Amino acid sequence: MSSVLTVSGGVPLRGTVAVRGAKNFVSKAMVAALLGETTSRLRNVPDIRDVGVVRGLLELHGVQVCGGPDGADGELLMDPVNVERANVADIDAHAGASRIPVLLCGPLVHRLGAAFIPDLGGCRIGDRPINYHLDVLRQFGAVVEKLPSGIAISAPRRLRGTRLELPYPSVGTTEQVLLTAVRAEGVTELRNAAIEPEIGDLIAVLQKMGAIISVDTDRVIRVEGVDSLTGYDHRALPDRIEAASWASAALATQGDVYVAGARQPDMTTFLNTFRKIGGAFDIDDDGIRFFHPGGPLRSIPLETDVHPGFMTDWQQPLVVALTQAQGLSIVHETVYENRMGFTDALVRMGATIQTYRECLGSTPCRFGAQDFKHSAVISGPTPLHGADIEVPDLRGGFSHLIAALAAEGTSRVHGIDLIDRGYEHFADKLAGLGAQVSRDTAPVPAVA
Ligand code: EPU
Repeated sequence: MSSVLTVSGGVPLRGTVAVRGAKNFVSKAMVAALLGETTSRLRNVPDIRDVGVVRGLLELHGVQVCGGPDGADGELLMDPVNVERANVADIDAHAGASRIPVLLCGPLVHRLGAAFIPDLGGCRIGDRPINYHLDVLRQFGAVVEKLPSGIAISAPRRLRGTRLELPYPSVGTTEQVLLTAVRAEGVTELRNAAIEPEIGDLIAVLQKMGAIISVDTDRVIRVEGVDSLTGYDHRALPDRIEAASWASAALATQGDVYVAGARQPDMTTFLNTFRKIGGAFDIDDDGIRFFHPGGPLRSIPLETDVHPGFMTDWQQPLVVALTQAQGLSIVHETVYENRMGFTDALVRMGATIQTYRECLGSTPCRFGAQDFKHSAVISGPTPLHGADIEVPDLRGGFSHLIAALAAEGTSRVHGIDLIDRGYEHFADKLAGLGAQVSRDTAPVPAVA
């Protein structure tokens, strides 16, 4: 069984929508709670499925979790005093499509001397290997053993700080290093680190817990290991991916949406691009109003990149707006090799988009010499019409919703449970913005 959203499109989105804590920070801050000797308090936690998955993983390991997104200020309390080993089959059954279990390794090895990772899922936007994670864990002194059921990590003695350099500034691997280095013996130096705002907020959390971490301007992070950490009290930074998704929806539907909670400093690159296309925005202390000011939208060349570049997660929602821009837009995806598949559904809805194996851009990309269609040329403007579409992945799924909202006629978007992973109450929020949507559970196979 999988849920379907029926959308009667062609109605501009108008009104206010609120974003809460960033999915890609909150899950990591929850993992960090494992490292403390006292209770941690995380605020502004959104009601999304990924939070439920991490909560379950913590509980399986003996962490007592109370509160939750529905409580006051979305407050979650995590008491890690009785951390214990979890049953392998339970971890496997619970982790589902999540990639979070790999980040539990460092903290669990510090607490229990061992950890286990089942086969990992996550969105189908590329191969998504965990080789960098396993390499850095080995360099800290962990023993990594591949078993038929997953990967067992153990440590014969306390993990040791080390000098590391990532082949690519991977977000997850940088977090892995931080979560492991803070309690390792001695100093860790990480070169070519990711420096996304969500990582900055994770560093803030770890510093509150007692860690000693410095960030240099050249992607170098230094961590001096400490013997013990306490719990933390922290309010999560807002979700800049969700904020950009609503901005893209406002532009594609010729609407006007105030995104309460959106924060300018985390979105500078997105805001520049939004303006170049012809979108308008007003910024105040509490959020950002995104709107279509009238007149034609302009086509652009766009390349995704690690921070401070244009985020890969902003790409899919914005491509729908680019189908409404005049002329040829060229999009080069450099973070994931397989994040253009969602354009097939847009083409069925009337968009003119061609995908290419070549790098259509100037950013050096790891996929150019390989057989991946990771560039796209979008020719617009093209009217969109309703269709039956299937959600391919989290962000691609939201972009399909935007296309359905911008299209004339009725669309049925299948497999929207996948969107629940990262967009809080999105059907209610859409209805609040005037969209004509209804959610049903239909007997069709789930995508995820
Ligand atoms: N990579 C490897 N080996 C590894 C790890 C990564 O080759 O061991 C490659 C990946 O295949 C990818 C690139 O490095 O091509 C970047 O991956 P990264 O590790 O940076 O991504 P991640 O940590 O798995 C997080 C977010 C993603 C977001 C990326 C980039 C979470 C839970 N996920 O993934 O978010 O796209 O960083 O910003 O934080 C989403 O929210 O929809 C989403 C996919």
